[in-house]
Amino acid sequence: MAKVLALSFGRKMSNTDVMLKEVLKKCEEAGHEIKFMRPDDLEIKPCIGCCGCVVGIMSGRTNGACVFKDDFHLVEDAYYDADAVIIGSPVYETSPSGTFKTFCDRFGPSHDLAFLTEAKKERIAQGNELLPDERVFKPRVGALVGVGGAMTENWTIMTIPIMYESMMSAGVDVIDTHVYYGAMAVDHVLGVPAQMERMDKMAQNIIDALAAQTDEERTKWRGADNYACPVCHQSMVRVTPGTDLVECAICGINGKIEMVDGKATYTFSEEEQLRSRMNYGGKLEHRNEIAHGAMTQKRTENLAELKKSYLHIGE
Ligand SMILES: Cc1cc2nc3c(=O)[nH]c(=O)nc-3n(C[C@H](O)[C@H](O)[C@H](O)COP(=O)(O)O)c2cc1C
Repeated sequence: MAKVLALSFGRKMSNTDVMLKEVLKKCEEAGHEIKFMRPDDLEIKPCIGCCGCVVGIMSGRTNGACVFKDDFHLVEDAYYDADAVIIGSPVYETSPSGTFKTFCDRFGPSHDLAFLTEAKKERIAQGNELLPDERVFKPRVGALVGVGGAMTENWTIMTIPIMYESMMSAGVDVIDTHVYYGAMAVDHVLGVPAQMERMDKMAQNIIDALAAQTDEERTKWRGADNYACPVCHQSMVRVTPGTDLVECAICGINGKIEMVDGKATYTFSEEEQLRSRMNYGGKLEHRNEIAHGAMTQKRTENLAELKKSYLHIGE
């Protein structure tokens, strides 16, 4: 039996809530332990950007603790307990909700798998007994659900790509994503059987991944098969005008676009795939750039003096 957690950022018992509850219901029927949480009902303060969490990890003083003592630890604890995490958000202005982003900002750097893995290694070598929670290193699978009221999928375009943030830092293997668009055409998703059936499929995908005997089978992509990036299985690429270069916005990896028989094909080398920020290689690259760049920050002479002339501008 595994633990399956769903985090909903939608309105209480509206579309997102019920779609995630459908996934949980099927997972429970398959014998798994389930938990449903609505972070919006908790007190979770927005990140103030102090970077105390990262400095704490890198300096060996903390395991990424936040300066805020609010309800965030309840979500963090459930996330770390879970073997599978499903996150759902309504679409606001083509993207996930602001409170979803608040969750990601609080969860991001402080729960980064590479930051914590390297910290553990360093601390063991130094004899520092303050080691990260062992649950950090547990493999997890994830799925993402977006719900848009507008009638066109186009008005949900940034939602799933941005939602990958919620899986990236903890190194969760995303195996399925789904967007329900046109949700305002019916008063509730319970009146749209095709969407509820898609959630049953998502549940089955999670159940199958949890039952996998090999890591390859566990992390296998089980969502839609029309995508540009072979790592995240999405198609949010940045083009560089005048070149054949593309960059996956989710993974941060470079590839090439080519027209074959009138169809665009995308190629990302094995090497680039390994350095996706969804994989450990990309996280480690970022951890190292922070450790050797930001943590050894250059100091600006006379900074207080320089700031003085800006203090009253526009205030
Ligand atoms: C501030 C705001 C912005 C919205 N922007 C979009 C949008 O850009 N695209 C879209 O498809 N729906 C948009 N919607 C509609 C919601 O996605 C829709 O109401 C959805 O069903 C909410 O999910 P829920 O029922 O689970 O709460 C917006 C709604 C609000 C309140």
